[in-house]
Amino acid sequence: MNFTLTEEHLMIRDAARDFAQNECKPGVIERDEAQKHPTELVKRMGELGFLGMMVDPKYGGGGMDTVSYVLAMEEISKVDASCSVIMSVQNSLVCWGLETFGTEAQKQKYLPRLASGEMIGAFCLSEPEAGSDATQQRTTAIEKDDHYLVNGVKNWITNGGHAGIYLVIAQTDREKRHRGINAFIVEREWEGVSVGPKENKLGIRGSDTHSIMFADVKVPKENRIGEDGFGFKFAMKTLDGGRIGIASQALGIASGAYELARAYSKERKAFGKEISRHQAIQFKLADMATEIEAARLLCLKAAFLKDSGQHYGKLAAMAKVFSSEAAMRIAVEAVQVHGGYGFVKEYHVERLMRDAKITQIYEGTSEIQRMVIARFELQD
Ligand code: CAA
Repeated sequence: MNFTLTEEHLMIRDAARDFAQNECKPGVIERDEAQKHPTELVKRMGELGFLGMMVDPKYGGGGMDTVSYVLAMEEISKVDASCSVIMSVQNSLVCWGLETFGTEAQKQKYLPRLASGEMIGAFCLSEPEAGSDATQQRTTAIEKDDHYLVNGVKNWITNGGHAGIYLVIAQTDREKRHRGINAFIVEREWEGVSVGPKENKLGIRGSDTHSIMFADVKVPKENRIGEDGFGFKFAMKTLDGGRIGIASQALGIASGAYELARAYSKERKAFGKEISRHQAIQFKLADMATEIEAARLLCLKAAFLKDSGQHYGKLAAMAKVFSSEAAMRIAVEAVQVHGGYGFVKEYHVERLMRDAKITQIYEGTSEIQRMVIARFELQD
């Protein structure tokens, strides 16, 4: 067993760290407050190769492995979890889904623009009445001649307002239940696609979340992803990888909060000495550091399994549930270490605490991750 990162991994991690510290940090508080989309930073992420990290270079991507992606996600999430969710959806759900299951024509048409950041994508699975129970799709895609007619509403769509394409999951044949579901590439500019108002959120306020409405949208048959009826499996397989991205986002939020708490504890004095010299604070820091190390190992193991062609669904779910719950605990404790300062925006930790919450919810709640893990554990 070898826990050493390669030179290339370290270079990617350092590049992501520089980008996060030098470019994302300035203005992060203001963007959060104003719910301002980091449009310029998304463009920069495209230029730096962070939006198509794992895409084959022949489609304009970076051809990197999932370990590199985890490292970059951690660094960017330490500073700006709004930027990192945009990056995670783009890499794991949109690019990976298209590259793995799309036709050659679909890949050539969409991947280069996605990988360069010229175009952002969104993943449309959740509906007003189909969140955790994802088989209950009400959006329909009815086959007509050379196209499908798509009708329905999708909810809580990350990148919803800025996306050029949506990967839309819809029911074609209700009698076949989840085996009658399909996935489609739908372009934003097509007639019948409309974007609802931006959600006013607790955290990751820079990223834009919207409902997306589809009214008699004509989707050419060549825009279906995979065989007829593959849509539910497409969503599940894609989310397996997505969960590694969100687990790494949670890991980054946790390490960002920890680093702030550690630094503050070495400066702030109480009862005649730095608070880091009080055991009450030392125990908090020790627990945080231990949980971060465990979360990082889970994320990297899930990434390693994926990169080496092994089954990674269970590890991805374990990484997601552990990292997101650790992130929540660590961010709350980081606020506590800061005392009153932790409660005001200038110190960053209250934002990280608000950002941490969503990692326990999107791309499968903690309860769903436990369901997935238990199914693996109980199968013979
Ligand atoms: N890979 C491949 N196939 C899978 C699979 C996987 N990971 N998980 C399930 N399947 C297959 C099963 O094998 C089964 O296929 P067959 O019928 O052919 O045997 C089929 O899918 C149905 O599976 P289940 O019976 O297990 O389905 P279920 O109804 O019990 O649900 C679930 C399974 C895991 C709970 C699933 O519904 C789930 O993951 N729910 C959560 C959805 C989710 O994560 N939503 C996030 C929205 S996206 C988002 O948040 C993006 C964003 O913007 C940030």
